[in-house]
Amino acid sequence: MNIILLGPPGAGKGTQSAGLVERHGMRQLSTGDMLRAAVKAGTPVGLKAKAVMERGELVSDEIVSALIDDELASMGPETGAIFDGYPRTAAQADALDAILAKNGRALDHVIELEVNEDALVERITGRFSCGNCGALYHDTANPPSEPGKCDACGSSDFRRRPDDNEETVRTRMAEYRAKTAPILPGYEARGIVSRVDGMGAIDAVANAIDGILAS
Ligand code: AP5
Ligand code: MG
Repeated sequence: MNIILLGPPGAGKGTQSAGLVERHGMRQLSTGDMLRAAVKAGTPVGLKAKAVMERGELVSDEIVSALIDDELASMGPETGAIFDGYPRTAAQADALDAILAKNGRALDHVIELEVNEDALVERITGRFSCGNCGALYHDTANPPSEPGKCDACGSSDFRRRPDDNEETVRTRMAEYRAKTAPILPGYEARGIVSRVDGMGAIDAVANAIDGILAS
């Protein structure tokens, strides 16, 4: 199974990917996470991407498609792929088709998380994650069950993303509307798009996604 989770910043792509990994043993391929790891490690890709990400703009198509190409090549054919935050432009959508074909894979579902943009700013400015294992939390919607301690690994090293401020979020949303939303009609023409109400509770969204995967 190969699926794309599509939706603006804060729609819940990362949160739902983590659930799919746990429930179905799929692999999450998040270009945002890969780029943040590259920034942290100070690699040439990270050095190029850092300022672009802090402005909320898109990193070049060549860089992100190369990251996906490498990651998919390292996966066994039996492992399902969740594309989180990729593709984000028409050129990336074309590149993904070529990468999948090269690996003998095909897209099964493109799942669009439908959300209300105004609520997303609150979601994003309340987000934090575990610096040790990456588990995602929200100040009010999804706090750790024991305050100050990660549910998944017990660490108390929590982080906030440098691009999670209101100004940058607005730029990220504008980028989504201008460059990413236009790739949907191409997938619709192939009959593989499903829509989920991303404003529901995390479990309700997860159930809706599982319903699509089982269909
Ligand atoms: P990326 O890391 O992909 O960020 P994004 O698309 O802006 O999406 P987010 O990670 O902010 O949101 P999400 O949908 O994963 O939501 P989450 O589950 O965390 O990209 C960052 C940057 O990298 C880009 O701006 C760009 O510069 C670069 N980049 C990455 N990929 C690229 C590409 N392909 N091409 C070019 N550049 C690229 O949820 C958000 C919060 O809400 C969390 O706190 C969570 O706990 C909470 N929450 C989630 N679901 C719910 C719910 N149902 N109810 C209540 N709260 C919820
Ligand atoms: Mg994410």
